[in-house]
Amino acid sequence: MQFDPWNPEFVAHPYDVYRELRDNAPVSFFEPTGQWLIARHADVNALLRDRRLGRSYLHVASHEAFGREPEPEFQELFWRVIRAGMLDVEPPVHTRLRRLVSKAFTPRMVESLRPRVRKIATELAEGLVERGGGDLLAEVAEPLPVTVIAEMLGVPEADRHLLRPWSADICGMYELNPSPEAQHTAVRAASEFADYLRELARARKDRPGDDLISALAQVVDEGDRLTEDELIGTCVLLLNAGHEATVNVTGNGWWSLFRNPAELERVRADPGLLPTAVEELLRWDTPLQMFERWVLEDIEVGGVTIPKGLEIALLFGSANRDPEVFPDPDRLDVGRADNPHISFGAGIHFCLGAPLARVELAESFGALLKAAPAMELAEEPVWKPGYIIRGLESLKVTA
Ligand code: HEM
Repeated sequence: MQFDPWNPEFVAHPYDVYRELRDNAPVSFFEPTGQWLIARHADVNALLRDRRLGRSYLHVASHEAFGREPEPEFQELFWRVIRAGMLDVEPPVHTRLRRLVSKAFTPRMVESLRPRVRKIATELAEGLVERGGGDLLAEVAEPLPVTVIAEMLGVPEADRHLLRPWSADICGMYELNPSPEAQHTAVRAASEFADYLRELARARKDRPGDDLISALAQVVDEGDRLTEDELIGTCVLLLNAGHEATVNVTGNGWWSLFRNPAELERVRADPGLLPTAVEELLRWDTPLQMFERWVLEDIEVGGVTIPKGLEIALLFGSANRDPEVFPDPDRLDVGRADNPHISFGAGIHFCLGAPLARVELAESFGALLKAAPAMELAEEPVWKPGYIIRGLESLKVTA
């Protein structure tokens, strides 16, 4: 098999192909997308920190000057929302936007949320057990991070059901070569989400609550600290990034444990292993398989010169199985002590929500281990289509 992100067989099990790439072609050109694939941990880690690359090039050149077509007109609104969030901008705008919200996500702030996270996780886990089991993904994995991030931002409870579909539709644009239908769906979702948040933020500007949207609404247009578009882009990013991958790590993680029963037994017997188990589950089946970067100046990677204007694709799933960094990398080891996985990225865009994700995952796995000590897989799960965002359709269990 070859690297083929559109082949469901490859998506289900990409790790043998990654091994071949790391061994034989660690920097290779992938014709169908015109990108250079980077397979080794050392290269991925270094390139994430390399300022000659960017998540965007629009801070240094126009589409034309960079030799790229602008996006089609119908996508304009989508990109207006997405490019107003910190993930798709570079300094100095990135620095300003990240600083405005980073205080809410420090390990200390997040630690103060732990009791609340534990309470929600326990209720969800106990509910699943009372029903004798069900879909762990829909009934535990999704509601926990959605509730937590919605509460932080101040999205009213009655509206929270809107977040998951908007996020899923927006994510459709991030797959490689999305279909025209997926593109239109993503544009519609971004537009509805933006309208919703604009209205909410304007209401909170006048009548602030104790939440992040209210805090941001107070500084809109105040001495150029934050424009309304930036507020909307930031909130869309926080609400989407704030649950999408966490949901998938919970589902993928449980499936990893079911496929490695000895490791499941280890963590059941010793919940003190939870912190290392969470890191190992993040590494072993990487929830975001690839991140792209634009080459802003010619660079050399592993003896290959990649010219300005091209795009590289960093294979996180491959980096996380690199034997140079992880002894016996294909083995799931819930006690793995030294685990510099790359699942949260590195460099200036390092995941802002990593401390929160860690608390949510530890509490969610912990609550299920405790409430459902005999939980078993009821049905072989299937992967969602799509390569970059790695998640299961559902995870049916008995409990
Ligand atoms: C297990 C769950 C998560 C994973 C695997 C994950 C992964 C990542 C990765 C890899 C990046 C960097 C992307 C790049 O460099 O191109 C990132 C950025 C980001 N993540 Fe997460 N994330 C998770 C959970 C969260 C949560 C809970 C939040 C909540 C706020 C969050 C908010 C963000 C934000 C705001 C950024 C952009 C940071 C910047 O551009 O400076 N993430 N995430």
